[in-house]
Amino acid sequence: MSNPVRLAVVGAGSRGTNYARLARKAGAVLTAVAEPDAERRRLFVEEFSLSPENVFTTWEDLVAAPKLSDAVVIATQDQEHTGPAVAFAYAGYDIILEKPIAPTEEEASRIVDAVESSGVIMAIGHVMRYSDYTRTLKDLLTSGSIGKIVSVEHLEPIGWWHFAHSYVRGNWRNAESSSSMLMAKSSHDLDWLSYIVDRPVKKVSSFGGLYWFKPENKPGEAAERCVDCPLQQTCAYSATKIYEGFLDDPVYRVWPLGVLTPKPSRESVSEALETGPYGECVYNGQNDVADHQVVNLEFEDGATASFTAVAFTQLDFRKTRIFGTDGSISGDGKHLEILDFATGTTRTIDTTPIGGASAADGHGGADGRLVEAFLRAVESRDGQALSSVRESFESHQLVWAAERSRHLGEVVTL
Ligand SMILES: NC(=O)c1ccc[n+]([C@@H]2O[C@H](COP(=O)([O-])OP(=O)(O)OC[C@H]3O[C@@H](n4cnc5c(N)ncnc54)[C@H](O)[C@@H]3O)[C@@H](O)[C@H]2O)c1
Repeated sequence: MSNPVRLAVVGAGSRGTNYARLARKAGAVLTAVAEPDAERRRLFVEEFSLSPENVFTTWEDLVAAPKLSDAVVIATQDQEHTGPAVAFAYAGYDIILEKPIAPTEEEASRIVDAVESSGVIMAIGHVMRYSDYTRTLKDLLTSGSIGKIVSVEHLEPIGWWHFAHSYVRGNWRNAESSSSMLMAKSSHDLDWLSYIVDRPVKKVSSFGGLYWFKPENKPGEAAERCVDCPLQQTCAYSATKIYEGFLDDPVYRVWPLGVLTPKPSRESVSEALETGPYGECVYNGQNDVADHQVVNLEFEDGATASFTAVAFTQLDFRKTRIFGTDGSISGDGKHLEILDFATGTTRTIDTTPIGGASAADGHGGADGRLVEAFLRAVESRDGQALSSVRESFESHQLVWAAERSRHLGEVVTL
């Protein structure tokens, strides 16, 4: 048996810690961490029993040290991917890089160049590709079960409180300091659509923007902070109602409560709501990213796809309908219903994952599958089965094109 893969984590926040837990479960050994936040660093070191000499404050210190691991997870925030990704690639580490590769095309190209010229393995965190649901769907499509795909309709129901958490109050609320909503949230979906339809895209158009979470929609009596607000019981977006409702749930304590405070308790959550960004009124104007967006794609052979991402839903699995020349498939993230035109019969495949659609549930088991596939690739030196940086770069180009289209009001030809 080969030695277990030694893994370091850059950014021991929500995703970095999640991947570390999954990697340990899959047989890897956690050897080092780089994390500037003292409390997060302490909790990580304690959980993974790291030696003090393998604990660093920043990724720069870790990459400058003698090599302490075979591979590294880079789970810093969107704007902080390029520096560590380029440096660890040139230092010979195999890498899981959280999506997006980087918010801009220029930075993402630098990462692709570094990975390809140094020959390391890089998996991008496009976890949707790895779920049992996607694998089953992909097998159905490649075996020709519905003929040739002509059109696809795909919906991402972000969820009203999830949107308020991440895109109004949270880390991805401002496009300038993080990424566009389409890049932060739906680069997954455009990557997934490319993977499923599996042919080059020719044209992209997009509409959408920020419809609701703006100061002009703030009720007259609403307060600056939900803790002081008379509308707490009736407002759908009341932070006190949303977050206090999660306190007794062990899954939701990890996420989203773990984002408010490293050790969620009634007291620490109350303090975060009284003082931090997650207790602010959603109508305060702290955000600018789109709360609804549509993207249309035309593929080279004339097939089309339409995609909608929207905040105003239940947080749920994506819904997709795929229309082929010999049949159609309707999927809800768990079940695939296949209609065969020749026989007129319908069959259903149940791929129901353990857990729900959110990050707290490991995206329906897909996070764990990505980690397992990455560790296997590191051991075998074969990165074929991974969502490679080149493929991800190509699907990110759809995001940049859609954003250009949305801002310029034009159809973008690739
Ligand atoms: N694949 C998915 O489905 C998915 C889901 C959520 C987030 N993400 C992505 O994962 C990434 C991380 O998101 P998160 O929610 O875990 O963020 P987070 O803020 O919880 O964690 C980021 C961590 O990086 C640390 N950090 C900052 N500068 C650093 C440095 N110089 N060296 C080392 N660490 C540093 C921060 O202190 C923080 O703890 C983002 O790019 C995000 O878009 C992906």
